[in-house]
Amino acid sequence: MTDADSLSGPIIRPIIRMYRDSDFDGVDRLWRRVFPDDPRRNSAPQSIPRKLAFQGELFFVATLGSAVIGTVMAGYDGHRGWLYSVAVDPDHRRAGIGKAMVRHAERALRDLGCDKINLQVRERNASVVAFYESLGYAVEPVLGMGRYFGP
Ligand SMILES: CC(C)(COP(=O)(O)OP(=O)(O)OC[C@H]1O[C@@H](n2cnc3c(N)ncnc32)[C@H](O)[C@@H]1OP(=O)(O)O)[C@@H](O)C(=O)NCCC(=O)NCCS
Repeated sequence: MTDADSLSGPIIRPIIRMYRDSDFDGVDRLWRRVFPDDPRRNSAPQSIPRKLAFQGELFFVATLGSAVIGTVMAGYDGHRGWLYSVAVDPDHRRAGIGKAMVRHAERALRDLGCDKINLQVRERNASVVAFYESLGYAVEPVLGMGRYFGP
């Protein structure tokens, strides 16, 4: 065994799987770092319990060992599929993790019969459009609208 062998240890690869309760702190940390300006309703304490109560099986994380390094939340309403909270830890970007997570979520949505997936990109985050375009998504001529019922 060389010195390099003894230092390198086993290779740990990212895994994409369904969210588990033990991922909460890792997801919370990741979202605070990646989405620092998001409204409180999108925070982990507010949105994770709601997601787990409704199609919780469509909430996925990417992990590296015990660390959460990515998330994607999906939903299917019987008409359209949606993707939310696509996030990769800045220290692990451009390594194919975002793409692999989106493909994972797409497979889960297609298995439910979904044939069209929508997602929203904030105007100030337009640079992420190149990521989605590389995965086959196109900017559509629609204006997103929404209404919030929270306090
Ligand atoms: C968008 C994001 C999820 C991409 O994750 P990632 O793991 O770095 O993406 P991948 O490595 O899978 O990229 C796949 C392809 O997308 C494209 N791409 C990814 N990031 C890009 C960028 N910043 N600019 C241009 N193209 C990009 C490239 O074609 C890339 O392939 P390549 O690396 O072989 O060139 C990540 O940058 C992120 O978390 N951003 C902040 C959160 C965010 O804005 N989420 C989207 C909310 S709508």
